[in-house]
Amino acid sequence: MVDGGGNRKMIYIGNAKRIPVGEARKFLYPAGDERGTERPGILIHLEDGFVAYDGLCTHMQAEVEWNRFTGKIWCTMHDGMYDPKTGRPFMGMPREPLKKIELKIEENGEIYAII
Ligand code: FES
Repeated sequence: MVDGGGNRKMIYIGNAKRIPVGEARKFLYPAGDERGTERPGILIHLEDGFVAYDGLCTHMQAEVEWNRFTGKIWCTMHDGMYDPKTGRPFMGMPREPLKKIELKIEENGEIYAII
């Protein structure tokens, strides 16, 4: 973890060269509570770039997965699905979008979540 200035932190996720289009990478980031709890996040390499979201379903907080075959973010708990371009749910029980996570991508391809 790197201090991103102010109270913001940079959480290293991986290098863009090792995450091809259509693939995803999970990571953990601080939830921001006093106990130092971590939450899962999910980084996805779409055709038009990288996106990242909080990795817990907005229905009942199950961990979501990237489904490379459908190209959707999937919650296996109740078959909820989210659009990876927007984080919005379009099928199943979730009603709220996944929280988007800001990214910083260095010239050398290193990717950080900005929390
Ligand atoms: S917990 Fe994800 S669809 Fe219910």
